[in-house]
Amino acid sequence: MTEFSPRYLKDYQVPDYKITTVNLTIELDDTKTVVTNVMEVSKVGVHQRALTLDGEHMQLMSVMVNKDKLTASQYQLNESTLTIADLPEQFTLTITTQINPVANTALEGLYKSADVYCTQCEAEGFRRITYFLDRPDVMAVYTTKIIADKTSFPFLLANGNKVEQGDLSNNMHFVTWHDPFPKPCYLFALVAGDFDLLEDSFTTKSGRVVKLELFVDKGNLSRSEHAMVSLKKSMLWDEQQFNLEYDLDIYMIVAVDFFNMGAMENKGLNVFNSKFVLADDLSATDDDFFNVEAVIAHEYFHNWTGNRVTCRDWFQLSLKEGLTVFRDQQFSADMHSSTVTRIKNVKIVRAQQFAEDAGPMAHPIRPEKVMEMNNFYTLTVYEKGSEVIRMMHTILGDDAFKAGIKLYFERHDGQAVTCDDFVAAMSDASNTDLSQFKYWYSQSGTPELSVSDEYDAKSNTYQLTIEQNHPETHDKQEKHNLHIPINVELITSDNNLNQGGLLHSKQKTQTWTFENVFTKPVPALLGNFSAPVKLNYQYNDQDLNVLMVNASDEFNRWDAGQKLFAGYIKQLVNNAELELPMQIAEALAQVLNSDADNAFKAEQLVLPSFDEMAAAIDEVNPGALVRAISILKRFIAEQLQSKFIATYQSLCTNEFAKDGAAIGNRALKNVCLDYLALLDGANELVLNQFNQANNMTDQLAAIKTAALNDLICFEDVMVEFARQWQGNTLVMDKWFSINAMHNNENVVQRITGLLTHPEFSIDNPNRARALIGAFAFYNSHYFHNKDASGYKFLFEQLTKLNAINPQVASRLITPLIQFKSFDNNHQQLMKVELEKLSQLDNLSRDLLEKLTAALQ
Ligand code: TRP
Ligand code: ZN
Repeated sequence: MTEFSPRYLKDYQVPDYKITTVNLTIELDDTKTVVTNVMEVSKVGVHQRALTLDGEHMQLMSVMVNKDKLTASQYQLNESTLTIADLPEQFTLTITTQINPVANTALEGLYKSADVYCTQCEAEGFRRITYFLDRPDVMAVYTTKIIADKTSFPFLLANGNKVEQGDLSNNMHFVTWHDPFPKPCYLFALVAGDFDLLEDSFTTKSGRVVKLELFVDKGNLSRSEHAMVSLKKSMLWDEQQFNLEYDLDIYMIVAVDFFNMGAMENKGLNVFNSKFVLADDLSATDDDFFNVEAVIAHEYFHNWTGNRVTCRDWFQLSLKEGLTVFRDQQFSADMHSSTVTRIKNVKIVRAQQFAEDAGPMAHPIRPEKVMEMNNFYTLTVYEKGSEVIRMMHTILGDDAFKAGIKLYFERHDGQAVTCDDFVAAMSDASNTDLSQFKYWYSQSGTPELSVSDEYDAKSNTYQLTIEQNHPETHDKQEKHNLHIPINVELITSDNNLNQGGLLHSKQKTQTWTFENVFTKPVPALLGNFSAPVKLNYQYNDQDLNVLMVNASDEFNRWDAGQKLFAGYIKQLVNNAELELPMQIAEALAQVLNSDADNAFKAEQLVLPSFDEMAAAIDEVNPGALVRAISILKRFIAEQLQSKFIATYQSLCTNEFAKDGAAIGNRALKNVCLDYLALLDGANELVLNQFNQANNMTDQLAAIKTAALNDLICFEDVMVEFARQWQGNTLVMDKWFSINAMHNNENVVQRITGLLTHPEFSIDNPNRARALIGAFAFYNSHYFHNKDASGYKFLFEQLTKLNAINPQVASRLITPLIQFKSFDNNHQQLMKVELEKLSQLDNLSRDLLEKLTAALQ
C-alpha cells in the first residue's frame, strides 16, 4: 500500500530542474493510448541531484535522454515517481507511456466521458498522462499532436492555436496544436470527439478578432446559446472593469457529461460540466441560467487570474480561486440585482463555509498542510477566499484596488507566485499597511464579534465597543487579532441620522464614539457583510423592525429580517410552544407591501436555512431545528395567508419572459407557494402550478413543494415529470434530487430503489450528487433520522464511491464529518459510520485525510 504523507507549505523549495518545452504526441485508444512526451529539460543552478518525476496509474514504455534509450537499471521506478540520476546540464528527455482512458473512473488525467476523450489535470492529474514535474511552478510551452479515428473523433482539440492537420492511413487523422504561453501542466487539456459546434467571435478593444467555439453533444446546439452570450459578456466586462483583454486567437469551450467539478480553465480550451453550459427556457431554471453565466465568467476570468499569473504551489490556490470568485461575483452583481447577488453569496458563506471552519477540516484560505490536494478545493479557499479579496476592496476602495490589480500584473505576468505577492502589490499600489490584514490568509476559523453600545442623551454621544474573539479550531492554530473592516450605519426610527462608515477593528477591544447623535440609534452592523465573521449584538425585535424598514442599505434591511427570524427559530428549538408575536407577520406584511423589486422581496421572505441555523447553534438536535423552522413558517403562512394568495395570483402569468423583472416575479411567486403549501388547498395549488407551468422554474418549484410538504399529488407529479423529461439527463438530475428531498419517512427506501433506476449511474458524478448528495445535504430531516438509516445509506454509497471516484466520495462525506455541530446522540451515530468507513480496504487518500481529521 502506498504511504500517504502530508506535505507542508513551509517545506516549499524551488525545483531542481526546469522543463521549458513539451512536445506531446497522443495516439488515442480506449484501453491503450500511447503518449510520447519530448521535453527540453535543464538544471536550475549547479548541482548533481537526480531528477524525480511524478507519474501514476500508467505503464512506462521507454525513457530516452537525448539519443540514448535508458535501460531499467538507469532509472528508478515506483508507484508514484520515476527518478533519473547523472544527468547533464541540459538535455532532451523523451518518455513514452501507455494509459487506459476507459478504466479511468476517477476522471483525473485522460478519461472517456460517454464517447468523448477528455482530460482533467488540475490539481495533479497530468501525472496520469505522462511522467512530469507536476507542480504549478514548472512552466513550459506545449505542442500537442493528437491522433485518432476520423469518423468517431472528427474534432481533435488541445490548448492554443491549431498549427497542422492531416489524414493518416486506416481512417486515422491528426491535428497539432501549439500554445505560445508557458503554462503549468495543470492547464494542459485535450479533447477528442464528435460535436455540434456553435461559432461566434469577439473583437477585443484593441481590435483583435477572437474566434469563439462552443462544442456540445450532437443535438444540443439550441441549448448552447446562453453560454455563448455569457462568454461575450464576460470578455467585455473584464476589458471594461480591469482592462484585461483575451490573448489567444481562439477560445474553445467543450461541454462533457462526466465531470468532477463545475468547469476547468485550461488555457484556450475550457472543459465544462454540461450542467454549466446547456440551458434553454423549457428545461433550465432561472438559477440554472444564472449559474451558467457565472461559471462561464469564472473560467474566462481565470485566463488572467490563474493562467497568465499562476500559483507557485498548491497551498496558494486561493491566489487564483478567491480572486476569481470575487471577480465572478462582481460580474454577476453587475449583470443582475447587486443586492440579491450579494445575498446569495453571503448565504453560502454563513451556511456552508462557517460549518467547514467549525469542522474537522478547518483550514486557512492558504492551507499549511495538505495530504490530498483535491480536498482543498473548498468553500474556505473559494468563498472565504473571495471574502478576503472583497475586504481588501472595501478597505482600499475601488480605484486603489484596481491600481493594485494593475501592479500585480505588471510585476508578475508570466510568473507563478504567492498570496504574499498579491497582497504586496495591493499594499504597494495603495500605500496601505496590510501586514495585520495578512493573518486572514494564515488563520482558520470564523471570528466572532461581540458588540455593545451606550448612548448618552446629555452629551449626544453614542459609543460602540467591538470585541474580537477567535474560537479554537480543529487545527489548533494560534490565533491573532485580525484587521476586520466593519461597515456601520446608525439608524433612528425617525430616520434622520446619516452617520456611520467603515470601522477598522484591529485590537481585541476597541471603542468608537459618534458625536451629535440626538436620538438613540440602532446600529446596522457589518453592512453588505463587510467581513466573514459572526456577530453578537443584543437587538430587540423593535430594533430589528427599525432596521428592516429604515436601513438605507437593502442588504442591511434583509439581514435585519434574517436576524429576527433566527432569534425566534433559536427560541423555538428549545420551546416549541413559544407564542410568536404578531410583529413578525406585520414586518413581513410591510415587506410585501413595499415597492422594492420582487426578487429582493422574495429574499426577505425566505427564512434562514437549516444549515445556516445549524452553523449558528451549538449541539443542534436536527429534528428540533427542522420543527422550529416549520413552526415559524406555518405561523407566517397562517397570518399572511390572504396576502400570499393575492400576491401569488397577481404574479401568475401565461407569458414567459427572462428579464430581471420576470425572474423576480417567479421568485416571489414561488416563495408565496412555499408558504401556502402549509395551508388548506395546498395540493390543488401545487398541482395546478405543475400543470400550467411553461418553464422549468415553475415546474420544479411545484414538484419541490410537493416533496418538501409530502403533498398527496407528490407521486403523480413525479411520475408525470419523469415521463416528460426522460432522456434529458440534466433535468432528470433535478428529478433525482427532488426524490431525495422527499419529506417522508420512506425516503431512504425510495432512494435505495432509485439506485437501480435505468437513468441512474453512480459512475456519473452529476447523478451521484443529484441523488446521494441531495439526500445528505438537503434532506436534513431524514438524513439525521434517529434510526441512523440516513447515515447508513450514505456509508453504503461512500464505500462504492471510494473505489470508483474518490473525489466525488470525498465531497459527499461532508455532512457526516461535520458531526460536531449536532447533539451527542447524533454525533455518536455519525461516528459509527465514519469508523466503519475508516476500516475499508483501499481507502482512498481523499477519504483517509478527512476520516483521520474527523476521528482524531
Ligand atoms: N480550477 C477549477 C475552477 O475553479 C476547479 C476544478 C475543476 C477542479 N476541475 C477540477 C479542481 C478537478 C480539482 C479537481 O474553475
Ligand atoms: Zn476557479
